[in-house]
Amino acid sequence: MDKIIINGGKPLHGEVVISGAKNAVLPIMTACIIEPGQYTLNNVPNLRDTRTMGQLIEMIGGTVKFQNNTMILDTLNCDKPIAPYELVKTMRASFYVLGPFMGRYKYAEVSLPGGCAWGPRPVDFHLKALEAMGAKISLEKGNLISKGELSGADINFEKVSVGATGNTLMAAVKANGYTNIKNAACEPEITDLVDFLNNLGSDIKGKGTKSLKISGKSKLKNSLEFSIIPDRIEAGTFLIAVALTGGEVTLKNVNYKHLETLISKLRDTGVRIEYDSSSITIYSNGKITPVDLKTAVYPGFPTDLQAQWIALMCMANGNSTVTDEIYHDRFTHVAELKRFGAKINLNDNVASIKGVKKLIGAPVMSTDIRASASLIIAALAAENKSEISRIYHIDRGYEKIEYKLKSLGAQIERV
Ligand code: UD1
Repeated sequence: MDKIIINGGKPLHGEVVISGAKNAVLPIMTACIIEPGQYTLNNVPNLRDTRTMGQLIEMIGGTVKFQNNTMILDTLNCDKPIAPYELVKTMRASFYVLGPFMGRYKYAEVSLPGGCAWGPRPVDFHLKALEAMGAKISLEKGNLISKGELSGADINFEKVSVGATGNTLMAAVKANGYTNIKNAACEPEITDLVDFLNNLGSDIKGKGTKSLKISGKSKLKNSLEFSIIPDRIEAGTFLIAVALTGGEVTLKNVNYKHLETLISKLRDTGVRIEYDSSSITIYSNGKITPVDLKTAVYPGFPTDLQAQWIALMCMANGNSTVTDEIYHDRFTHVAELKRFGAKINLNDNVASIKGVKKLIGAPVMSTDIRASASLIIAALAAENKSEISRIYHIDRGYEKIEYKLKSLGAQIERV
């Protein structure tokens, strides 16, 4: 199994190009199923998750060509609306086929996702929304079977959910009549999905707000070329890494508007950040003022950067607290960060961090995508050698991470 070896303690310098957003492209790939046709997606990151979603589309009868970050999907012959356990258990985002399957086939068979490293992660909001639209849903041998012609409905999510908003949107664009989604997710990845669907001929109003109004259509276009937004979480991970190691790095192909909360929090730690329409430059001397934060739905601080922020606070000049309000159990990185000498006390969903002067390299193990990123950040700043195992997690969400970091001067090797 691959490992990453890092000899830390070196500042990062140079330029890095940010890839397309994993969490935007995954639902957009499933949206290509809704109307049988041919679609070209640009700026698609070459990741384990995008390849897994490609396999799923091929399993149901489509074809997927993926080269140089362009993906061409042909969904004309998709004829098996089934997402089996083998795929869903490796990538929860495969649950995004539920809405598209219902829109196209009025039938879906999708394995019920189980828990994950961050806790239970239920899908009840997705199911309640589809039921409100007329789906009859049952559970057979671990698979959800959903059937029925969908009609527009009023849906008010009790809590903001990115996945449930995406699935409901993809079901609603072909449902009969009007759907109103209240308390919808406003994450940029959902906005990108709305852009894709509207370019495809859907009628979705309220883009980027908590209230989305969809007028269902019996037919959408059957071809489209579309470019995926930059990955704000990958960009944020690089910014946090440079803040900790010190140095000066420019990120290219990035949208600062998606990162305003992070940029403001990073400035509070003492780093300098400048940006223009497509790039962000960070200047850091590696001296970090402690900054408390709580994760929140967009435009708040993303839970997907919580682990990386804790790594940064480990070497801050004082104490801080980091609270995860979205996923209370998403702290598996804490025990691993302690192996570098970090001083962190975890109480329910609040991590209290006492900054230390130095971290010392150690063998550690990654447990999920963002936890892996936090261990890489800590290892980049730690003295001596670190060995990060179970690195397949990072390959789910970060394209060519070791090449990108090496180009910035990091001593990093995959073995
Ligand atoms: C997506 C992202 C993930 C990110 C998360 C929150 C993808 C592929 N994944 O996950 O990286 O960390 O948003 O920004 O885009 N909930 C329920 N019932 C449901 C659905 C959600 O109770 O049916 C709860 C969850 O347990 C969680 C909260 O709602 O506490 C938000 O989850 P949600 O936004 O749905 O996360 P995902 O879409 O799974």
